[in-house]
Amino acid sequence: MEIVTVNRHAHFNAAHRLYNPDWDDERNEAVFGKCFNPKYHGHNYEMIVSVTGPVDPETGYVLDMKWLKDLIAERVEDYLDHKNLNEEVPEFAELNPTVENIVILIWKRLKPALNPEFKLKVTLFETPRNFAEYNGS
Ligand code: NI
Repeated sequence: MEIVTVNRHAHFNAAHRLYNPDWDDERNEAVFGKCFNPKYHGHNYEMIVSVTGPVDPETGYVLDMKWLKDLIAERVEDYLDHKNLNEEVPEFAELNPTVENIVILIWKRLKPALNPEFKLKVTLFETPRNFAEYNGS
């Protein structure tokens, strides 16, 4: 059976700041630069959710893209959109909300809802030029 990857593009806006509470301001500023700003700053995050699996001969689909769209809205957009990631998302209470850690969180929130035979990859753009990918490995 043929294996195909289908992709859904979605986005959310969120604020964050990056710092290590064990470091002094000077070291935080040296490592995190503008992202250390105590007043926070925002990003327009763009994500691509990629699901790989067999094409169902009855539908011609890997999966129903409307279902995937709704899943992303429920599990990711509702959870992260217009949030202060440090203060409003429990996973980031003590974990830096870097693009790396956010893409892992998104993957973990989506994967359990998918049929286990599907492979999932999430690509997250923090800026048009900086992005991270996670596929669970
Ligand atoms: Ni930032």
